[in-house]
Amino acid sequence: MHKKLFIPGPTEVRDDILQAQAKPMIGHRSKEFSALYEGIVNKIKQALNTKNYVIVFTSSGTGIMEGAIRNCVYKDVLCCVNGAFSDRWFKIAKACGKNADAITVEWGKAIKPEMIEEKLKQKKYDAVTLVHNESSTGVRAPLEEIAEVMKKYPDTFWLVDTVSSLMGDKIEIDKLGIDVCLASVQKCFALPPGLAVCTVTERALERTRTITDRGYYFDFDAMLKRYEKDRQTPTTPAVTLMYALDKQMDKILAEGMENRYKRHLEMAKYVREWAKKYFALFPEPGYESVTLTCVDNTRKITVADLNSELGKRGFQISNGYGDLKEKTFRIAHMGDLTLDEIKELIDNINDILKL
Ligand SMILES: Cc1ncc(COP(=O)(O)O)c(C=O)c1O
Repeated sequence: MHKKLFIPGPTEVRDDILQAQAKPMIGHRSKEFSALYEGIVNKIKQALNTKNYVIVFTSSGTGIMEGAIRNCVYKDVLCCVNGAFSDRWFKIAKACGKNADAITVEWGKAIKPEMIEEKLKQKKYDAVTLVHNESSTGVRAPLEEIAEVMKKYPDTFWLVDTVSSLMGDKIEIDKLGIDVCLASVQKCFALPPGLAVCTVTERALERTRTITDRGYYFDFDAMLKRYEKDRQTPTTPAVTLMYALDKQMDKILAEGMENRYKRHLEMAKYVREWAKKYFALFPEPGYESVTLTCVDNTRKITVADLNSELGKRGFQISNGYGDLKEKTFRIAHMGDLTLDEIKELIDNINDILKL
């Protein structure tokens, strides 16, 4: 039996989207591919309301996390660390040979704008990395307030991981001034894993061109030059996944972005209310994710047992991440899931736990 996924990726993929992949192959040097890729890029720009460049990489999101560092950082980068994925970006920066400093706060807490400002006052950084939606803790960063600080330091580029929030939580990329905004498609896009998407500002592209050791596969300039030339990619892309992405962008646009954001918020509010009634929320108040809820396991239930009982009924949630295993658990409400499906899951949890 298939277990419906309420985990923070991969999320549940609808049948018509799965079917969209099962089409005869086309060559990636064909006119058909150029039309497919151009269509995808334009639809993503429309959905995100951005004038920035859009690139689709055949990789998971981590690839672009590394790419963003290599394309935008000469030497010094400031990494905001408040969970597993933000810590991964810090490690990536060091692995790329950059001088990386971190602002580290306890898991479950948010990085505040004043913490970033304090660091930027002391030292000139090429870029700041920030994870918008920490999937390990369910913490959502205050992007609007941080944007105000970033605007005071125009030479410092802003790289934002929206891996588990883009297309589910409204992010005004252009207004906020995000230089590189990246996401994986197996989260709020509700697609199978294998593609990652980013937006890139003109100034970020200009800087990329001045960095000689920016690597090869994730070279933004090479990707965009090839796109400019014939709407293709320098290397072989995952064409089947692009069929699915194209169809999914049509469906996302048909739903309407405001409706999509509203649906995510309604699901989040429902799960938060339930969690507050029977458990507690793990994130610091006011910084709760809109796409997943991290529940503090105050009742000391055995999360693994709950999940195996849920599995028998055709549902799957996530245990806590890393050290938070059994101390927390996570219910994702992202992608194409509906409030009715969330209610069905919660009813089943209540029934199993006799709440
Ligand atoms: C916030 C966040 N950043 C980065 C990643 C890594 O993405 P990927 O697994 O697509 O490389 C994840 C994956 O769960 C994530 O949730």
